[in-house]
Amino acid sequence: MEIIGVLGAGAMGCGIAQVAAAHGHDVVICDNLTPALTKASKQMQATLKILVEKGKMTDAEAYSLFSRIRLTDHMSDFSKCTLVIEAIVEDVEQKQIAFKSIEATVDAKAIIASNTSSLSISAMGAQLKHPERIMGVHFFNPAPLMRLVEIIPALQTEAKFVDQARKLINSWGKTTVIAKDTPGFIVNRVARPYYGEALRILEEGIADAATIDWAMRDLGGFRMGPFELMDFIGNDINYTVTETVFKSFYFDPRYKPSFTQKRLVDAHYFGRKSGRGFYDYRDGAVLPEPTKDEMLGKQILTRILSMLINEAADALYLNVANRDDIDLAMTQGVNYPKGLLAWADSLGVDNIVRQLDWLHAEYCDDRYRCCRLLRIMAREKKTFYQ
Ligand SMILES: NC(=O)c1ccc[n+]([C@@H]2O[C@H](COP(=O)([O-])OP(=O)(O)OC[C@H]3O[C@@H](n4cnc5c(N)ncnc54)[C@H](O)[C@@H]3O)[C@@H](O)[C@H]2O)c1
Repeated sequence: MEIIGVLGAGAMGCGIAQVAAAHGHDVVICDNLTPALTKASKQMQATLKILVEKGKMTDAEAYSLFSRIRLTDHMSDFSKCTLVIEAIVEDVEQKQIAFKSIEATVDAKAIIASNTSSLSISAMGAQLKHPERIMGVHFFNPAPLMRLVEIIPALQTEAKFVDQARKLINSWGKTTVIAKDTPGFIVNRVARPYYGEALRILEEGIADAATIDWAMRDLGGFRMGPFELMDFIGNDINYTVTETVFKSFYFDPRYKPSFTQKRLVDAHYFGRKSGRGFYDYRDGAVLPEPTKDEMLGKQILTRILSMLINEAADALYLNVANRDDIDLAMTQGVNYPKGLLAWADSLGVDNIVRQLDWLHAEYCDDRYRCCRLLRIMAREKKTFYQ
């Protein structure tokens, strides 16, 4: 079995290590902070204990899984690893330094990958002697539970290394999709309007958070409404991703962050983890009731869904990923009830174009510009799937 290396013993590093060890690999986790290693060890043992209590594995299996994981603060312990996944802080300079240190330790054919959510993989490879074996492998949180992994080849990456990594990660029971090295890859790009458009509707006073959440959940079939989801993810994290994507797209108004969410972050109203966000989670607090007005709910759903479909179509038009991978990414990465391109077919591409054109004309805002692919398809009466 190949030995897998993980750099960074935080939430993602531990989750990825657990996945690899569960599939029989010896895993080396390296962190430069001793307390982080101690915390990671305790955290992983606690997670395994819960899995045993829930009957998901036996005591012996948990023991053997944990015994395959070695925690260290020496990167030289990666020397025999054939794949090293970096999961340290989201900072390109720190990741570049880490990549160089990993390269100095491993074989020239070992794959070096980053779990970054938003940074350029090509930039991370710029200073390597053998950048042809670098790539992004973007697991979602929690890594043991979420099936999707986005694989992102850099400009420098050779296809054989991508195939090798994909085969390996598929063998861990994951669904892999290939994404171009562009900001947000697939999921963190295509999902932006779920939050951004909901925030616009709130700011305009069209509906309150509870009503928008109700519309998306009960009428749209999404597992969580946008506001409960932002509170769940953490407004600090969600806002930062939006801001990073906005800056990376040279301030395209489609990804513009919201002052409403920024003020929550300023006030440390991060969501569930801090007790307050869009909603109040403190003891005794009562959640607000939505206004269950079907017509209003449908308007909200149509507006947000059209923006999501526009984003998915644009990702396809600009070759960020293929049709199937875009739909798979959204259903398996963020649990959308349907792939957005398949959803466009069932709603009628021409109806989506009409909705977007109406928003564009009404608001005179470039944010609502319709993707050229949708316009061509509507004109030629085409669908994404036959
Ligand atoms: N948390 C998420 O929901 C999520 C989801 C997908 C991807 N990611 C990405 O995964 C990466 C890690 O995220 P996380 O939430 O696990 O972070 P985290 O803060 O929980 O853990 C990061 C760990 O890296 C260690 N570290 C920092 N610099 C280091 C270095 N130079 N050498 C060795 N160890 C170092 C820290 O001590 C810490 O233990 C980030 O790039 C993040 O964007 C996070």
